[in-house]
Amino acid sequence: MLARSNNAEAPAPPPGLETERRIVAFIDDEASTAALRAGLAGLGDLMEVKRGGLRQAVRFLRTLAPVSAAIIDISGLADPRTDLDELARVCPPDVGVFLIGENTDIGFYRLVVHDLGATDYVPKPLTRDLVQRLLLPRLSGAAPDLPDARAGHVIAVCGARGGVGATTIAVNAALRLAGLGQGQSALLDLNLRNGTAAMMLGAKPGPGLRIALQEPARIDALFLERVAISVQPRLRLIAGEESGEPLGVLPPEGVEHVLDLLRSKFNFIFVDLPVPLRPEMKRVLAVARNVVVVFHPDLPSLRDAQTIRQAALVATGSDRVLTVLNRATLRGGLNRDLVQRALGQPPDIAIPDLGNRMVESINLGVPALQRVPALARHLMPLVREVAGLRSEAPRSLLRRIIRR
Ligand SMILES: Nc1ncnc2c1ncn2[C@@H]1O[C@H](COP(=O)(O)OP(=O)(O)OP(=O)(O)O)[C@@H](O)[C@H]1O
Ligand SMILES: [Mg+2]
Repeated sequence: MLARSNNAEAPAPPPGLETERRIVAFIDDEASTAALRAGLAGLGDLMEVKRGGLRQAVRFLRTLAPVSAAIIDISGLADPRTDLDELARVCPPDVGVFLIGENTDIGFYRLVVHDLGATDYVPKPLTRDLVQRLLLPRLSGAAPDLPDARAGHVIAVCGARGGVGATTIAVNAALRLAGLGQGQSALLDLNLRNGTAAMMLGAKPGPGLRIALQEPARIDALFLERVAISVQPRLRLIAGEESGEPLGVLPPEGVEHVLDLLRSKFNFIFVDLPVPLRPEMKRVLAVARNVVVVFHPDLPSLRDAQTIRQAALVATGSDRVLTVLNRATLRGGLNRDLVQRALGQPPDIAIPDLGNRMVESINLGVPALQRVPALARHLMPLVREVAGLRSEAPRSLLRRIIRR
């Protein structure tokens, strides 16, 4: 299942991430279809028109078919915000999204383009002239700038202190989300010299990430795609090699550039952060939609969890922290009441101690999710929350999260 090795000069991008110029339209009425075909005739074979609307587009994009742009008829959507949220989860951020619909209200245009990040919105009736003037130049030109609303969601995972299970949570939550068929995810391990994400996945990273962080000017999205190890069709791992010279201080723009590139390609980016946090990595907290703080039921761990929560609050200006009490049932650990009292509120997610098979899985290089099925169940509330999937999580959790 896993690609065993990779390096900076690897030849081909992983399947499903090729930057291919193919435009697919999902249109339901004859008149719009005819206008589109006539107006975009110059694109020849690059253009494909399918019958349907948003639902068909979501289904199509879920198959990871390589496209550069999608034109989607959204006539009659009852709740555009929710429906387009679903599209955002499956559509890679760098795919242009051109919407067509019946709503001519300027407020609706603002909602879908400015707030939800569609590349453009064209109201019906579509005419050949409108298509040629508004759509053609943007479809045949360079990729549009990525609006912030479309950039991938960063989920920063930090342990309150060493050994509490941060990497376990990051790796397995990313795998669980990928298993749900939601878009493309990346797992970025920023523990550069002694990271264990690759070990947990049985993968062997090359020097690509180090080069990217040390010499950001040299790298582009294609480079990162090539150093990303394919863990499964919807999940890539970007991690540092296991040995080598010490890294020294990294230029702060390295982490920023890598994050920007990943956010343009992936819907979700899980970042395994080192403890203590290197100063040049604070940027991760600033752009994170969620900061997942993992801790044990003991006092030092709880104290440090509060410190990280405070740092995240300062970096992001709002409380985006999700607290994960890991190994909640650890023998001798604090009970729920004491944990709640120390935290000031119940943890958002609690995962029990899952026994020796967890460590066995690391020694075997097999993800814990495969050896310990209960882990998948315990991770679901976290995965639902970070992916914005309909949640059965307690209301108090939802209320505290301010979405970006
Ligand atoms: N819920 C759990 N039940 C039992 N064992 C667990 C659980 N969660 C994690 N572990 C085990 O705890 C150990 C430490 O986990 P992990 O490496 O994920 O922690 P970490 O916080 O990333 O540590 P580091 O500070 O070294 O990066 C591993 O052996 C892992 O298998
Ligand atoms: Mg770790």
